[in-house]
This record gives sequence, structure tokens and C-alpha cells, in this order.
Amino acid sequence: MRTQVAIIGAGPSGLLLGQLLHKAGIDAIILERQTGDYVLGRIRAGILEQVCIDLMDEAGVGERMHKEGLVHGGFEMLYNGKRHRVDMNKLTGGKNVMVYGQTDLTKDLMDARAAAGLPTVYEATNVAVHDFDSKKPRVTYEKDGQKFEIECDFIAGCDGFHGVCRASAPKSAIKEFEKVYPFGWLGVLADTPPVHHELIYVNSPRGFALCSQRSHTRSRYYLQVPLTDKVENWSDEAFWDELRLRLDPAARAQLVTGPSIEKSIAPLRSFITEPLRFGRMFLAGDAGHIVPPTGAKGLNLAATDVKYLSNALVEFYVEKSEAE
Ligand code: APR
Repeated sequence: MRTQVAIIGAGPSGLLLGQLLHKAGIDAIILERQTGDYVLGRIRAGILEQVCIDLMDEAGVGERMHKEGLVHGGFEMLYNGKRHRVDMNKLTGGKNVMVYGQTDLTKDLMDARAAAGLPTVYEATNVAVHDFDSKKPRVTYEKDGQKFEIECDFIAGCDGFHGVCRASAPKSAIKEFEKVYPFGWLGVLADTPPVHHELIYVNSPRGFALCSQRSHTRSRYYLQVPLTDKVENWSDEAFWDELRLRLDPAARAQLVTGPSIEKSIAPLRSFITEPLRFGRMFLAGDAGHIVPPTGAKGLNLAATDVKYLSNALVEFYVEKSEAE
């Protein structure tokens, strides 16, 4: 089989890239090792920055996001017992963020791809990338016991931190930087109304806390905890008690608690790869970098990567430019 761009990974990066290329008339196939349901089942980020909002609109999949998403023009910072609102909209000349789950964004992109009849191979195994230092890169994979080969012009490694693309880059050509933080974030998702209509970032003597949200009825909270903590040692009760201790009296009074529907401890680290290009293979999103889950930075950086990569590919195909 032949296509113009072979995209590895059907997470937000791969799906958004696929949609933007389709809008520009560029053929692409997506190879994903999991099932679509598995990809949709992952609880992830929930705050879209303006760049992500604009790209969803550019990709023609922003309708439900604008209907169901919550627009925030600012956020609050609580330190030394006092809350300070940062007027993001005013300070950025009109930009906002949108509370809209990564799962919803992924679903909108998946649905649009399926509706357009674009090729996505789920449960593709043993994906391997070849000859990306030539003008004729290839991708091989297996599906239902059969082997397949795709000839393409470019490979987009949107396969996340554990993917095959970065792992296939020549060791001599890649530099990796990592910072591991000496604590983790204990996160809880609960079907309770958020403590405040905007996010609250907390710097308390007991440690960091974040009051985030997914909707008017679903809240997301994080507590900084020692790396030695185990999630099974944190009852919901203990979580809410500790969160109260880190909040100011007004937020404490507003806090509605309830059973957690997801609870986990995320070890915090920052990981960056340089460069993101290896011949005709490009990395985008978590394949190239991991950042702590503050304000969905991972998702929004992924969207920014995809913006630059899709623009470059459009320039190559539509404007016939081979500019580096
Ligand atoms: N072959 C095919 N698919 C693969 C392979 C492989 N060898 N390795 C990984 N994948 C798939 C994964 O199953 C996953 O669906 O690539 C996809 C990568 O998606 P993400 O990990 O979500 O990364 P990305 O699309 O860059 O999105 C970044 O997702 O992980 C969160 O916090 C992160 O919000 C950020 C966003």
C-alpha cells in the first residue's frame, strides 16, 4: 500500500494531525496498536488552551467542544492563605482556555475520521519504521496474523512516550533531557460540582494542590504527595480531609465531596527529546516530550507540535516547498 503520510498512534496527536492533513487534501493512514475503545477509555487531560481550541475548529471538529465545553477567562492562585485571580483573557489579548475532556476531544476526532471514511488500523501489531533517512520511508505492521507494508513520503511518530518511533531514531542523532521531581500527584476524579467556577492552583505549607474540573458536575483534584505514597493507602476520606487542610476557608466551605471514580498517583517528570525530526520521520506529542499534568500541558504541547508539523507538510505538498 502507498500513502503520503503514515501516522503511528491514534491518540490526540495522531488523530488531530490526520484530520488537519485530510482538510488539506493530504492522504494519511493511522496505525494504532490498541482498540479504539481502549484509547477512549484512558482518563487524561481536560483543559484546552487557545491553540488547541483553534486547531479543533481548523480541523472542523469543534462543534461539540463549543456546545459542551466551559470557557474560562482566568484562574486563581492561592498562597499565603489568599486567593489571587489571574485574568488570562485580559493579559493575553482575548485568549481563553476550555474545560473539555481529552476523551471528548479524542472521540470527536475519531468520529470525524470514521465519518470521512479515512483509514485507521486499530490493533496493528509489530509496527516498525524503516528508511526514514531516505526519500522513501516505509512502515510495516501486522494485523490478524497478516503482514503489511506501507510506502509513504513521511512518517509521523504520534505514538506516545512508549512508542516505537523515538525508539527507532539513531542514538547518535537524538538528545534526551529528563528531570524527575521528588514527589507525585495524587489525583481524584469525582462526580461532584467543582469547588469554584475556575481552576485554583494552591501553594500551601502542606504541599501543592490543584482544584480542576471536567464539567459543572465532574471535578478533578490533585494533591502533591511523597513518592513513597501508595494510592491504596489513600482512602477518599483521607483525600478530602487533606484537600480541605490545603484550601482557604471560602473554598473549604464550598467543597462538595463524594466517592472517587478514578484515583491514581502520577510520578512527576519532565522529559524532552531533541530534535523532533529524523530525516522523513517526525515526532509529535508525548513521543517527543512528557511534562507534569499541570493544566493539560501535555495535550496542549501535543496540539502545538501538530500545528507546526501539519503546516510544514501542507507547505511541502500544497506549496511544493522543501524548505527545512
Ligand atoms: N504502534 C502503534 N501505536 C502505538 C505504538 C506502536 N508501537 N506505541 C504507542 N502507540 C499508540 C498508543 O496506544 C496511543 O494510543 O500511540 C498513541 C499515543 O497516544 P498518547 O500517549 O495519548 O500521546 P499523544 O497522542 O501525543 O497525546 C498526548 O495524551 O498521554 C496523554 O498526557 C498526554 O495529554 C497528553 C496527550
